[in-house]
Amino acid sequence: ETIIKKITHTEEDKKIYEQAGQILREGGLVAFPTETVYGLGADALDAKASAKIYAAKGRPSDNPLIVHIADVNALYDLAKEVPDKALVLAEKFWPGPLTMILKKKDKVPDSITGGLGTVAIRMPSHPVAAELIRSSGVYIAAPSANTSGKPSPTRAEHVINDLSGRIDMIIQDDTVDIGVESTIIDLSEEVPTILRPGYITQAMFEEAIGKTIIDPAIMGSLKEGVVPKAPGMKYKHYAPNADVTIVEGQHEKVVQYINAQIAEKEAEGHRCAVMATDETKDKYICSDIVSAGHKDDELSVARNLYAILRDFDKQNIEFVYSESFETKNVGQAVMNRLIKAAGHKIVKLD
Ligand code: TXA
Ligand code: MG
Repeated sequence: ETIIKKITHTEEDKKIYEQAGQILREGGLVAFPTETVYGLGADALDAKASAKIYAAKGRPSDNPLIVHIADVNALYDLAKEVPDKALVLAEKFWPGPLTMILKKKDKVPDSITGGLGTVAIRMPSHPVAAELIRSSGVYIAAPSANTSGKPSPTRAEHVINDLSGRIDMIIQDDTVDIGVESTIIDLSEEVPTILRPGYITQAMFEEAIGKTIIDPAIMGSLKEGVVPKAPGMKYKHYAPNADVTIVEGQHEKVVQYINAQIAEKEAEGHRCAVMATDETKDKYICSDIVSAGHKDDELSVARNLYAILRDFDKQNIEFVYSESFETKNVGQAVMNRLIKAAGHKIVKLD
């Protein structure tokens, strides 16, 4: 049975951290909130404990885990080399939604790095995550706390739906703020390379450390033969059961196209949904129209995206038509995840 405890922001919370810390030190699994998505944690240096994460999620064993720390000095404990650029980024963006890939020390078990010679490290800013790492006294290996292949969890109920009965404890505190996973940057080679877009953008990195590149395999252009450097980015991920199509182009044409598709599909008896924005949702004719957020506020869309994708499944939606969203700031991460949810199905109108 899974213990579920809600953070109350009172003295009582101390007991929750004590219990969770003990579970982690004894090799168990605890799900906890972070500022990006919920994580499923285990003692990172205990290979047996982290093996349980893969079993609970149904995660392929070649997909490495992120190690969460509460103190910058942990870098020297886990990484073989700490380049100056890593220190600059840590100073600027930690604690926060940034994961750095560095060459690993031998003490980091191969089982959590998928056999790679590098380790992913992140210092979360969410107070519950930070307090759990600090008070447990262990480094916490944590992927997102979802069943492998499903959208990442942004609310405790998502974690409960996916993992209840499979893990020891869930710490509930629905204050997940960003809604998409951390930006991953690889600093283990010459030129820093962004392996997964997130809240911290290329422009922000370049201002801090100069030239950075984006792994060409991660955006819309997932071409045959181009394998993403972050093993997790190669899987069909974040996908609801529904068939998702993104429709791009001049707004009036997008509305016209989507309405025509819906009319046809609904006439055939299919359950359909439209994903639009507060500003555009009234233009559609469909039994299920969802606003992902404000058109010019990409963070609002990031916060809602995964919950909406999960809702489509709950309502047995078969066909989803989505507008495409702004790609500035965290919008790039939003589109990266949405394109994957759509299995790269994009209709471009002009
Ligand atoms: O925001 C986040 O990063 C959340 C919260 C819980 O911290 N965690 C998260 O973990 O998104 P996960 O496991 O769902 O995604 C980790 C990604 C995967 O794509 C994995 O392949 C990549 O990080 N990764 C981990 N270690 C790596 C390494 N050594 N080299 C390249 N990619 C790595
Ligand atoms: Mg994940």
